[in-house]
Amino acid sequence: MKKLRRLTGFLLIILLISAATVSIDILPATTKFPISTASQSTSISVVNNFGEDPQTERNFTWETSSEMNTGFIEYCPKNEFKSFTGENILISTAKSYESSKGAGTRTIHKASLKNLKPGTVYVYRVGNGTDLISTQGTFKTAEKKPNQFTFVQITDTQGANSKDYAVWEHTLDIALKAFPDARFLLHTGDMVDNGEEIAQWDLFTGAVKSELMNLPIEPAVGNHEAINRNGTNPDEKNYIDSFDLPAAMGTGAPAGTVYSFDYGYAHIAILNTECSSDNLKKEGNWLKADMQRSDKPWKIVALHRGPYGATYDSAEVRDALTPYFDEAGIDLVLQGHDHNYVRTYPMYNKAKATAGNGTVYITANSGGVKFYPGKLRSWQAVDLQPYTQMFVAVTVNKNTLKIQAYDVNNTLNDAITLNQ
Ligand SMILES: [Fe+2]
Repeated sequence: MKKLRRLTGFLLIILLISAATVSIDILPATTKFPISTASQSTSISVVNNFGEDPQTERNFTWETSSEMNTGFIEYCPKNEFKSFTGENILISTAKSYESSKGAGTRTIHKASLKNLKPGTVYVYRVGNGTDLISTQGTFKTAEKKPNQFTFVQITDTQGANSKDYAVWEHTLDIALKAFPDARFLLHTGDMVDNGEEIAQWDLFTGAVKSELMNLPIEPAVGNHEAINRNGTNPDEKNYIDSFDLPAAMGTGAPAGTVYSFDYGYAHIAILNTECSSDNLKKEGNWLKADMQRSDKPWKIVALHRGPYGATYDSAEVRDALTPYFDEAGIDLVLQGHDHNYVRTYPMYNKAKATAGNGTVYITANSGGVKFYPGKLRSWQAVDLQPYTQMFVAVTVNKNTLKIQAYDVNNTLNDAITLNQ
């Protein structure tokens, strides 16, 4: 009897140790935990976003059927990688939760990797530990020492069906062919046409799943993602489920819709324009403090409904936010919503600024199927509509910010270099 009690106690301790091992975020590098036993990989949509520090953190989001309620990510620096069965593979458990918006219930998995090495390429894959493993992807952390880098902006890719979202994939592919070393994609909103339709989110991420396996996307929420934007309860649930982004405190905006990060010589803040004027002012106050904390030479903002557009005149956003942009010394604002290409004169205090001062506002036309004709406004240095998809490439160096606006026929429609 005594022996049996000792044996039961021993088994209990083993069980407790096993449970504790599974619950920690990063398992020891030498773990033999059988993470992925599936014999074949599956191409699934895995979205990766920067954490608060792009040098050391990366967040991953994917979804599965509701029956799969666990998720893991396996990763390793590329220069040390031999295979996923190697003893140097690191493992992180995802936070997994059920989401039931739209067509049935599904499980959302979010895994945050921390303590990564700066300036390092990693290989990774995700899975559930039994019968699902993704294809292999790569990601690169930002370098500690700032270097020149390029990022790409695409906007307003919204569509109704797979044909529409194939156009968005084409735009991204052309952009990545032109700028294969782009460090991230900045999407300035209206990713989908109806943010409540989970099928459209599946088309949005599904169309570019091979590209997004190897490319971080940093999004700004658009009015089509926030269905009830003028109501008291903006619904950005599917947006929130689709990404894993840092949360700025005190703005009143939903977590993951206002955030910022450093990359190279730039500090980049993303704002949520789909809320009340009061909330916009709270975001403005947050932005001012956020930019004051940064010593980066270039200060960039991305948002959806731009203060200075064309077809639309978002006076409410202009009135609420531009005083903060003036005060914070924002160099460049990247906008969406207008479905044509606009570059403003440098603007300060709602007027054309004197040379070398002010903020330049750019609207990147559309990366999808919908275009609007241009509309002349007093603030426009350039307003054009080639009726084909466009993207903007921003190359950040210590003393220069080079902005190039291409269409998918590789025509350079506009270019400007800002100097410090
Ligand atoms: Fe919009």
